[in-house]
Amino acid sequence: MRIGLTGVGRIGAFHAATLHSLASVDELVLYDFVGDQARKAADGIGAEVVDSEDALLAAGLDGLVIATATPGHAPMLRKAIAAGVRTFCEKPVAATLDETIDLTRLAEASDTPVHVGFQRRFDHGYQRVQQAVAAGELGFIHTIRSHTLDQNPPHASYIPTSGGIFRDCNIHDFDVVRFVSGREVATVYATGGNQGAEFFKESGDYDTGGAMLTLDSGTVVQISSTRYNGQGHDVRTEVFGSKGSMCVGLDDTLAMVSAEDGVDFPKGPVHTNFMDRFLPAYQAELTAFFDVASGLRESPCTVRDALEAFRIAEACELSRMRGRPVSMDEVATA
Ligand SMILES: NC(=O)c1ccc[n+]([C@@H]2O[C@H](COP(=O)([O-])OP(=O)(O)OC[C@H]3O[C@@H](n4cnc5c(N)ncnc54)[C@H](O)[C@@H]3O)[C@@H](O)[C@H]2O)c1
Repeated sequence: MRIGLTGVGRIGAFHAATLHSLASVDELVLYDFVGDQARKAADGIGAEVVDSEDALLAAGLDGLVIATATPGHAPMLRKAIAAGVRTFCEKPVAATLDETIDLTRLAEASDTPVHVGFQRRFDHGYQRVQQAVAAGELGFIHTIRSHTLDQNPPHASYIPTSGGIFRDCNIHDFDVVRFVSGREVATVYATGGNQGAEFFKESGDYDTGGAMLTLDSGTVVQISSTRYNGQGHDVRTEVFGSKGSMCVGLDDTLAMVSAEDGVDFPKGPVHTNFMDRFLPAYQAELTAFFDVASGLRESPCTVRDALEAFRIAEACELSRMRGRPVSMDEVATA
């Protein structure tokens, strides 16, 4: 397959290397609007480089990967849908709720499939707990706890266009809560804190976030996030049911030590970032995208799914700003 990729930064360079390693990819074409970003990545993997988004779309692609900074997603996705190019788009699909609603309508009115990059849906642990919940193995689910704790903050220039900690980071937790539970969020109450670098405050963002969600089933969900988890990168989701409980991310890589005498779990080493934590899941999601691009399967994570996760993040921002619980009915939808 001939695959194009736009935005060759942290995740874009990583996706380019993953694409290069997959047997289905014969040719890779890269674009980044910063001069030598694409060239640097292309040199190591024998990829072509083009000098504009339009040249990328005209490069005879079987599929396109959008991995630009978040504000670049919506304009490129619109062009890709108009050109009929099957597209994998990193989360979130747009920087604002209005754009996400607009893109949902556009994608649903088009025959061009779009697969959104919520890689946790391709992680074996998340798939196992989703199957256990769906099969009733855990009974009724009374509580879910899900968190995304980064060891170190991203580069300072990432934060102003990231959308904030709920839209950028916890959006993964919002997606897996929907994926694992099969339910929708009814209400949210959110807060945030800042004790780290000034650039979070300067962007109106928080380095640490927390939210309580209630699902339409009555399940209570606790969400948290931080950019400063010194012990390591810790992504964990715990699902508690009337018959049993299950945890994703509880293994010897756990970035935590026990205060109890004689406990030597976990043995380590810890994960240090999302790329080593989810490498197999990123490989699996891009492999799944080839099936989407070949017309062999429907998108496993649609723009509608991305809208629902974004709406929860939007409700969290509203709750944090107003200091009160927010009903999902207060948040616009497509
Ligand atoms: N799924 C995940 O786990 C995951 C992890 C990290 C980042 N992301 C998402 O991926 C996106 C990129 O994140 P990142 O950490 O790689 O950011 P980054 O800032 O490191 O890289 C972004 C790259 O995009 C380029 N770029 C920006 N706008 C562009 C445009 N309009 N056209 C072409 N190139 C453009 C920049 O020059 C830069 O090279 C973000 O939307 C982020 O939310 C997803």
